Amino acid sequence: MHHLAVFASGTGTNFVAIAKACAEGRIPAQVAVMVCDKPGAPVIDRARELGVETFVFNPKDYPSKAAYEARIVKVLDAKNIDLVCLAGYMRIVGETLLGAYEGRIINIHPSLLPAFKGAHAVEDAVAYGVKVYGITIHFVDESLDGGKIIAQRAFPYEGSDPAEVHRIGQKIEHELYVETINKLLCER
Ligand code: GAR
Repeated sequence: MHHLAVFASGTGTNFVAIAKACAEGRIPAQVAVMVCDKPGAPVIDRARELGVETFVFNPKDYPSKAAYEARIVKVLDAKNIDLVCLAGYMRIVGETLLGAYEGRIINIHPSLLPAFKGAHAVEDAVAYGVKVYGITIHFVDESLDGGKIIAQRAFPYEGSDPAEVHRIGQKIEHELYVETINKLLCER
């Protein structure tokens, strides 16, 4: 049985999709821990409802990014984590976490990378007027949204409503993230 860590900062729909897939045996793993950097984020209640052990670490409580990440690494090491899945974790991973887990950290991003990096990918793509949107899952390295691509899925959309793109995209995210984690774990 593999051990996953999911990191999230917000709503947590991807976290829920992953945790449910594990619980239902669609991913041969258990979400051993959910790590959140935002006290009060909705994902915290979702994790507690699903009985997933949850750690909320506020970076502001630490003297440096290195100290904050060292605290996280301690938790991951204690739980024998095989794969860290960033799921709306809106923070750039620093060298402490990368040093310990590089090659074992993946992220989901709501655009067809390398287009529309950053925190407002959908809004930026709508403003640009693209007609094909998509989702990317990639390994995390020291670059912003720049690590090796593992999976992508595109969808057409001709309108101009970012909320609708988010809605369509999230359904695809949940499926693609579960499929991709499953594939990565089965290859190990
Ligand atoms: C997801 O759409 C994910 O692609 C995005 O945050 C959302 C989190 O949703 N991530 C990024 O923009 C990373 N740059 P969720 O909290 O409902 O899973």
